[in-house]
Amino acid sequence: MNKTSENTPDLAAMTLGEIAVRLPGATAIFRRYGLDFCCGGGARLHDAVRAPGIALEQIMRELQLLDANAARDYPATAPALIDHILQRYHETHRRELPELILLAKKVERVHAAHPMAPLGLSDALRAMAQELEAHMMKEEIVLFPMMRLGAHPGIAHPIARMRHEHDDHGERLREVEGLYRGGVLPDDACGSWRALYAGVRKLADDLMQHIHLENNVLFPQFATELPTTPLCPGMLTPNERAG
Ligand SMILES: [Fe+2]
Ligand SMILES: [Fe+2]
Repeated sequence: MNKTSENTPDLAAMTLGEIAVRLPGATAIFRRYGLDFCCGGGARLHDAVRAPGIALEQIMRELQLLDANAARDYPATAPALIDHILQRYHETHRRELPELILLAKKVERVHAAHPMAPLGLSDALRAMAQELEAHMMKEEIVLFPMMRLGAHPGIAHPIARMRHEHDDHGERLREVEGLYRGGVLPDDACGSWRALYAGVRKLADDLMQHIHLENNVLFPQFATELPTTPLCPGMLTPNERAG
């Protein structure tokens, strides 16, 4: 589709992040095709679908069936959006990740000899939980309170840092998705194994939507340019503060 008008935008030339914001339901399509709309949200659709096996025309057809005026499942204003992110995503990650780690340890132990056992998954989930916790604390203690006060000249720094850490979460998520083999279960998988993979799939969906809402919806309301001055101490890691 090359047409560019207000009603029929050139979706192929838009970034995945822009499409995800513009079209409710687009994120589910992107997930189905393995397109990264959160950390990789800056890629244009026609560039993002160059991977083998992905058909631009098919994705475009599905996107064009979506209604840009359909209700969104998140609020528009920054304070309400922050509340939504905290309740729907921060609390959910904190509640579900410890259970997933325990479940992964059990499946790895009981099925250690199985050729499809997700060995190493519990360690990867634990590392993800630690990184996420440190990241969410920074948002809750520093960035979100700054945002609740409104626009601030120094806000670009913590936003840039959080975007960088989101990229790290994306790397960790790819590691987790590799270890659980994209959720493909053996025919003889037990209930725990099935529950583990269902939980990891939900975690991945939640984490991508969480990062998408911050990168593509919340952060652009406050800063669009990279900072040029030093980061405030509250956003640094202990090692960075010591150095
Ligand atoms: Fe967050
Ligand atoms: Fe975040």
